[in-house]
Amino acid sequence: MKFGFNLPTKLMFGPGQIERIGKLAKDYGRKAIIVTGRTSARKSGLLARVEGLLSEAGVEFVVFDKIEPNPIYPTIDEGGELAKKEGCDLVIALGGGSALDAGKGIAVKAVNEGSVWKYVLSGDPDDTIPKKALPIIAVPTTAGTGSEADHFAVISNPETKEKPSMAAPVIFPKVAIVDPELMLTVPPRTTAATGLDVLCHSLEGYVSKYANPITDLFNLEVFSLVSTYLPRAYADGKDLEAREKMAWASTYAGISEANTGVALLHAMEHPISGYLDVAHGEGLAALLPAYVRYSYPGNPDKFDRVAKILGSEGRGLEACVQAFQNFLKKIDLDLTLSQLGVTEKLIPSLTKDVFKYMAFGPKANPVVPSEEDVAEIYKQSL
Ligand SMILES: [Fe+2]
Repeated sequence: MKFGFNLPTKLMFGPGQIERIGKLAKDYGRKAIIVTGRTSARKSGLLARVEGLLSEAGVEFVVFDKIEPNPIYPTIDEGGELAKKEGCDLVIALGGGSALDAGKGIAVKAVNEGSVWKYVLSGDPDDTIPKKALPIIAVPTTAGTGSEADHFAVISNPETKEKPSMAAPVIFPKVAIVDPELMLTVPPRTTAATGLDVLCHSLEGYVSKYANPITDLFNLEVFSLVSTYLPRAYADGKDLEAREKMAWASTYAGISEANTGVALLHAMEHPISGYLDVAHGEGLAALLPAYVRYSYPGNPDKFDRVAKILGSEGRGLEACVQAFQNFLKKIDLDLTLSQLGVTEKLIPSLTKDVFKYMAFGPKANPVVPSEEDVAEIYKQSL
């Protein structure tokens, strides 16, 4: 067996770790661009707190708070231009997956020519991998993306409706500050959807053809953590122990993802949230049962093991699918694609995009699908 393992990000984990952001920022830059969403970091007081900590440490900053859910490349280009104009030498990305991924895009745009879109792996012949970026400090406020510990940034194109990833070693955050106290105000629906994203990162990494013994260790721990603590965090957002365990699970899953990538489930979800701007975790939830049904024969032992951790007493395909369905019910995410606005008419476009810009996913999957297979999984999920 041959494999490598890479984790270049300094991880600061635990309640109250945000207090260290000033000193940490000073190690990497003189002036930061703080990248965040339009409302929540301001409303929760986190933005003001970070501004205060940076000022105390003598780090200058400018705020770019225009990041939308499923961030689009023109917004990221605008943030990159601002960073350049203001002479920023550090990015602090503060928020959910959208803010973190946009921060990575801004870090690239700030020191490279042209739009960030050319660095997104969209399947076009002229896309490319960026070689330089500003240093990034990632501060996740949801337990979901894992972006704080990986080298991916998902960026959408509003014209083509594509939602591919930029993947580059230079966008690994230098530091991830994972502070579960920052997650106590996440609403229940977002807690469920982002938490399900954690489960899917690990599931796909665990059954991937690129899984290795180290990522298996991380992912098995993630299944146990998510199985116990996601329903608790969903039921009571103020449950700090549950938030802490989910934050830990999210980062673990990100570390795995950085080493295995994702597989078919994510490859099929991205086109959905690209076309319809649905929450990523909800798209994953709607696809999950049919995805498990399709992929199970490629690695029954691993799927059975996950199902057991999720509470299944039986073995085999049906028991496994049932275990996932039961888990989705526990967090009120037993959804269909129709409920999210997907129609049968859209399936050919979704299928085409899976193979255009998410082609890694089908190849990594334990069962490698044809275009007809992918269309059928979409259909079963309607
Ligand atoms: Fe994801």
